[in-house]
Amino acid sequence: MYKRNDGLIKLPNLQLIDKYDRRLNYLRISITDRCNLRCTYCVSDDLHQRLPHKEILRHEEILRLVRIGARLGISKVRITGGEPLIRKGVYDFLSELTKIKGLADVSLTTNGILLRDNIEKIKSAGIKRINVSMDTLSRQKYKNITGHDMFDQVWEGIESAQREGFNPIKINVVALNGINDDELTDIAELSFSYPFHIRFIEYMPIGTSHINNTGKHLLAPEIQERIKVLGELIPVEKGINDGPAERYKFKGAQGEIGFIHALSKHFCNECNRLRLTASGKLRACLLSDSEEDLKGPLRRGCLDSELADVFLRAVSHKPHDHNLVCNQPVMVAGRMSAIGG
Ligand code: 5AD
Repeated sequence: MYKRNDGLIKLPNLQLIDKYDRRLNYLRISITDRCNLRCTYCVSDDLHQRLPHKEILRHEEILRLVRIGARLGISKVRITGGEPLIRKGVYDFLSELTKIKGLADVSLTTNGILLRDNIEKIKSAGIKRINVSMDTLSRQKYKNITGHDMFDQVWEGIESAQREGFNPIKINVVALNGINDDELTDIAELSFSYPFHIRFIEYMPIGTSHINNTGKHLLAPEIQERIKVLGELIPVEKGINDGPAERYKFKGAQGEIGFIHALSKHFCNECNRLRLTASGKLRACLLSDSEEDLKGPLRRGCLDSELADVFLRAVSHKPHDHNLVCNQPVMVAGRMSAIGG
């Protein structure tokens, strides 16, 4: 067991291993709950729910926590939101983050609105991999889903990321019955002409989104069946650092197709994730409201070792699995934008 050191801390070779023997080495960090889009499936646009500024972790606070996490075996970090690129000072923050010893992989999830004009800054900050949320290829539908007529700008952002050599560029597509289900083949077809990894994500019926939660969900096996008209999907072997996506490639394609089975097949048994919310809570499961507060102890001047204890406590509460069942909304108290998708 871990014994806390006094004074200046040298954390022993601890690892974040939970009671089901899962090694948690992946930290997803929501650096803001604000977003410049209003996607129907993600957020309710009730502005009163926004966190007050002082409740959001400052960059230096996040960096300190990541340094502690890295000493506990976190080697992979994803910055998300809200929309991370709207946060003031984000590029300097990313530069500091990518310098942290022990982090082998730092990536970014963005809605792509600010990508076109900032891609060089993201690159100079040391980010090599990005995920862009893009649920449709239709400009009108993009506007309907997100509330903003920004399709062209996002597409230009994706192309500029490709020109700058980001690899892979993952395109996150939340599959929504009655909204983009008629486009799945067109979207999958992008993998022939671009080296993108298209990832179809099953819609998760979380809390306050505007989507009708009682409708029939579009699940990965059905998406897979539908896009097969483009050719045989050849499985791609997973790397050790891979996330939960099941990976495939069409013969002759440059890019890949991935499926995130949030509902149809739990990937909890291989979940290696922890989440740091915008308000400084450590959350061991996206869908469980059990959280450990890091901001309080951090601002009270706690030692690194005490903050490391909070990491260990959060890990000890990681549930074996979530109970997300198709067609049944779960009441997750936090919003996706504050927890980080
Ligand atoms: N279900 C599935 N995916 C979602 N995302 C946001 N809300 C949901 C939801 N309710 C996705 C976004 C983004 C990723 C981080 O999470 O599309 O690409």
